[in-house]
Amino acid sequence: MAQSEDTVQTAYDVVADDYARLLPDTRAETSLDLAMVDAFVERVRDQGEVLDAGCGAGRMARHLADRGCTVRGVDLSPRLVAAGRRAHPDLDLSVASLSDLPFEDGLFAGVMAWYSTIHTPDDELPGVLAELVRVLRAGGHLLVGFQAGEGVVDLAGSYGRHRHAVVLERYRRTVDTMADLLDRAGCQEVVRMVRAPEGKEAEDQAVLLARRR
Ligand SMILES: C[S@@+](CC[C@H](N)C(=O)[O-])C[C@H]1O[C@@H](n2cnc3c(N)ncnc32)[C@H](O)[C@@H]1O
Repeated sequence: MAQSEDTVQTAYDVVADDYARLLPDTRAETSLDLAMVDAFVERVRDQGEVLDAGCGAGRMARHLADRGCTVRGVDLSPRLVAAGRRAHPDLDLSVASLSDLPFEDGLFAGVMAWYSTIHTPDDELPGVLAELVRVLRAGGHLLVGFQAGEGVVDLAGSYGRHRHAVVLERYRRTVDTMADLLDRAGCQEVVRMVRAPEGKEAEDQAVLLARRR
């Protein structure tokens, strides 16, 4: 059965405090990842508000805000959002689903989905991307980060090693698949980056920058 948003929310609520503590900033990102984030920031910073869609505890929203973006963040997990508000009281973080964003059409100059579409099953991904694009203005930019490849990864074991009993899967996508889905959702690819795994990573990592037509 496809993983539901309830399952994802429950899992991230369970791990929220450790997640926020162990990953408080961009230490896990490589310079290549951050170069893609910088390219996004350069395009959106002076154009209007930016949405960190699936912001977790706000570490990437912090990164964007520190580079001059006016940023809002949303996430499914109330506990992650609470941790984010404690760590970053100046940031506007709230609970919402990527499949039903509480924002008007075209509100944002930029939307970033940094490893937040990775738990969305294939059959629901077009709907989530359409929702991200809906809140993006024409000419606005969308940045998506994800594990590149194919197939499902069961995360119960890796969280089990941190003594958290959770049910959680994530889904790899090829960059061609993501670019094609974004194209169908109304965004044209600007640039893609795929890099080999580094450190503890086991998979290629991808970042795709696209522009709403
Ligand atoms: C791997 S974490 C990344 C969090 C954050 N972007 C970061 O880099 O620290 C995935 C996040 O996406 C959120 N998420 C997954 N599916 C979501 C959905 N449908 N709506 C809102 N948030 C979602 C999870 O709650 C979790 O915080």
